[in-house]
Amino acid sequence: MIVAEGLEQTYTSVGQALKVLHGINLTVEPQGFVAIVGPSGSGKTTLLGLLAGLDRPTAGSVELDGQNLNSLTEDARARLRAEKIGFVFQNFQLIPTLTARENVLVPVELRRALAGQTTEIDVEERARDLLRRVGLADRIHHYPAQLSAGEQQRVALARAFANQPSILFADEPTGNLDAETGSTVIDLLVTLNAEEETTLVLVTHDNALASRAHRVIRIAAGRIIAEERPNPQ
Ligand SMILES: Nc1ncnc2c1ncn2[C@@H]1O[C@H](COP(=O)(O)OP(=O)(O)O)[C@@H](O)[C@H]1O
Ligand SMILES: [Mg+2]
Repeated sequence: MIVAEGLEQTYTSVGQALKVLHGINLTVEPQGFVAIVGPSGSGKTTLLGLLAGLDRPTAGSVELDGQNLNSLTEDARARLRAEKIGFVFQNFQLIPTLTARENVLVPVELRRALAGQTTEIDVEERARDLLRRVGLADRIHHYPAQLSAGEQQRVALARAFANQPSILFADEPTGNLDAETGSTVIDLLVTLNAEEETTLVLVTHDNALASRAHRVIRIAAGRIIAEERPNPQ
C-alpha cells in the first residue's frame, strides 16, 4: 500500500528553481495495478522516484506499507527498497558483465548485503524459475549482449521479481521495444504481478497499455488532471 500526500518536487539548477510536481495525492491499494500516464516532461519519473523512496520530496509525504519514508535515513530507505521494491526501467539496466542468471540474483545479493537477510527461499531455484516463467529457460547463461532487446527486458522482469517485492515500479518498460515485443513484455509483467500478488505502478505514455490497469492516473505539468478505472480491482 502506498499513500502519497501533497507531494511537491522542485529542482534547482544554475540558480533557477523548477517546480515539477505541484501537490500530488495518490493512494495505491495492495495488489493494485495503477498506470501513470502523461506527456514527456510532466513529472512521471520524478513521481516514481519519490514513491519508491529514491528521492526525497521538497514537500509532502510518502508512506509505504505504513512506513513514512521521510522519517527514514538514507540507509534505512535503501534497506526498505531492497526488501520491498522491484524496478523495471526503459533501458533495461542489466549489468553487461553478468549472465541472465547472475543479473536476476543481483537484488538478492543486495538485499543480503543491506539487510543481512537470510531468505528461506532457494535463490538459485527462484532465479531459474523466474527465467523459465519469462520464457528464457534456455538463455540462463547468456550475457545481455547475446540477448535481443525483448529478451533483455524479460531478464529485467525476472530480476525485478527476484526478491518477492511487495511493490513493483516500471518506468516506460516498453519504451525501447517494438509494439509486438512490448506487448509480450507487458503480458508477462501483468501475469507475474498477479501470480506474485505484487502491487504494480506503471509509468507509460501508451494509452493502450495503460488501459490494462485497474486505475489510470493522468498527469500533466506536475498535477493529476484525471483518473479513470478501466478495470476496477
Ligand atoms: N534531476 C533533475 N534536475 C533538474 N531537473 C530535472 C531533474 N529531473 C527531471 N527534471 C525536470 O523535471 C521535469 C519532469 O521530468 P520527469 O519527471 O523526468 O518527466 P517525465 O518522466 O514525465 O518525462 C522535466 O522538465 C525535467 O527536465
Ligand atoms: Mg520519465
